[in-house]
Amino acid sequence: MSKHDQILVGLDIGTSKIACVVAEAGPDGKLDVIGIGTHPSRGLRKGVVVNIESTVESIRLAVEEAELMAGIEIKSVFTGIAGSHIRGHNSHGVVASKGGEVTAEDVERVIDAARAMKIPADQKILHILPQEYLIDNQDGIREPIGMSGVRLEAKVHIVTGAVSSAQNIIKCCNRCGLDVADMVLEQVASSEAVLAQDEKDIGVALVDIGGGTTDIAVFLDGAIRHTAVIPIGGDHLTNDLVVGLRTSAREADQLKRKYGACMVSMVSPEEQIEIPSVGGRPPRPMPRQVMAQILEPRVEELYELIKAELTRSGYQELVAAGLVITGGSSLLEGMVELAEEIFDMPVRMGRPDGVGGLVDVVSSPMYATGVGLIKYGYGYREFSPAVERGEPSVFSRAWARMRQWFGDDG
Ligand SMILES: Nc1ncnc2c1ncn2[C@@H]1O[C@H](COP(=O)(O)OP(=O)(O)OP(=O)(O)O)[C@@H](O)[C@H]1O
Ligand SMILES: [Mg+2]
Repeated sequence: MSKHDQILVGLDIGTSKIACVVAEAGPDGKLDVIGIGTHPSRGLRKGVVVNIESTVESIRLAVEEAELMAGIEIKSVFTGIAGSHIRGHNSHGVVASKGGEVTAEDVERVIDAARAMKIPADQKILHILPQEYLIDNQDGIREPIGMSGVRLEAKVHIVTGAVSSAQNIIKCCNRCGLDVADMVLEQVASSEAVLAQDEKDIGVALVDIGGGTTDIAVFLDGAIRHTAVIPIGGDHLTNDLVVGLRTSAREADQLKRKYGACMVSMVSPEEQIEIPSVGGRPPRPMPRQVMAQILEPRVEELYELIKAELTRSGYQELVAAGLVITGGSSLLEGMVELAEEIFDMPVRMGRPDGVGGLVDVVSSPMYATGVGLIKYGYGYREFSPAVERGEPSVFSRAWARMRQWFGDDG
């Protein structure tokens, strides 16, 4: 394996920031973060690229910074995709296993059968995530290959996205001279970084609250069961502060990060802060509680939307491990406490975990997607027995999938 083969790059193209995380995979399977670059994102709205030029510029600057820090040239990236165009569906397929014992080929066929569902013309499949296999009606099987049986059934979660949104992401990366190794649903990536396996087994809802969107993924029995995107995030909180405090968006965002809280009861009524005014007027003093009074109803509204989504998914009662909130907005004071109150289940903040190197920098929930992309990309190598058999590797399969966004062969 050449040195370049051991490098994995995650490029999180978010509404608020572009984060480029570079990691080196050691021979022992340990991932060390060796470079990070971040730059404010200017060309996205609600998780979707709306301005190619600005996005390209932001990506270029974030990637350059990461290249400098890591001392390498970045050629290929794993990137995320999000936005309200994303749809998640549960589907299943059935085939007969020919030799009375399930082979890798049978598994491929049953997955193919499961993907045969009607999707709108402007959408394409992003992920086919196996949930479980049933052999001769015995359910709960995770590794079917080698087992005896004649009837193989697969239950899968299929994620589709708008062709145009995916194309624009690839276009932006290509313009920066970057190949896209694969495109990953952002909450799938984040879950790689912040969830523990036992949480996924007993049931957990991951909620990534970013700037423009809130991305949800529900896990049970080790597999993804439900995905959803709510087009509300931290930027809405900032906008409420702009209106409520009559200050600029930049100041409002800074004030939110520094003094914001989403539970009035957590802030002492005596505490005072200074609000910079617009138009050269002098700053004004204000009780810090006023900010919480503005933020609390909006966060409450967001949590109610998430709760409704969980109820709709049918998994609300089944997530025994509760809720894990991540993304930059999970840093707002009181987010965990308010969620516990509204959802009436255990809640924790999810910080990226399981990597070495520059951990201090990437352990912020803001980097959940970036770190998750690397772990996802690494998993690709780890579980690619096809490479040894000289068959088309998962990498080239990912490539074929990437090409389908541009061609008509998908
Ligand atoms: N300490 C903090 N307190 C409150 N909010 C914060 C804090 N730090 C960051 N944020 C907010 O988090 C949001 C950005 O989060 P993040 O970096 O996860 O978003 P993103 O990935 O760029 O966006 P998206 O995933 O929605 O496309 C911004 O709205 C920002 O104001
Ligand atoms: Mg994000």
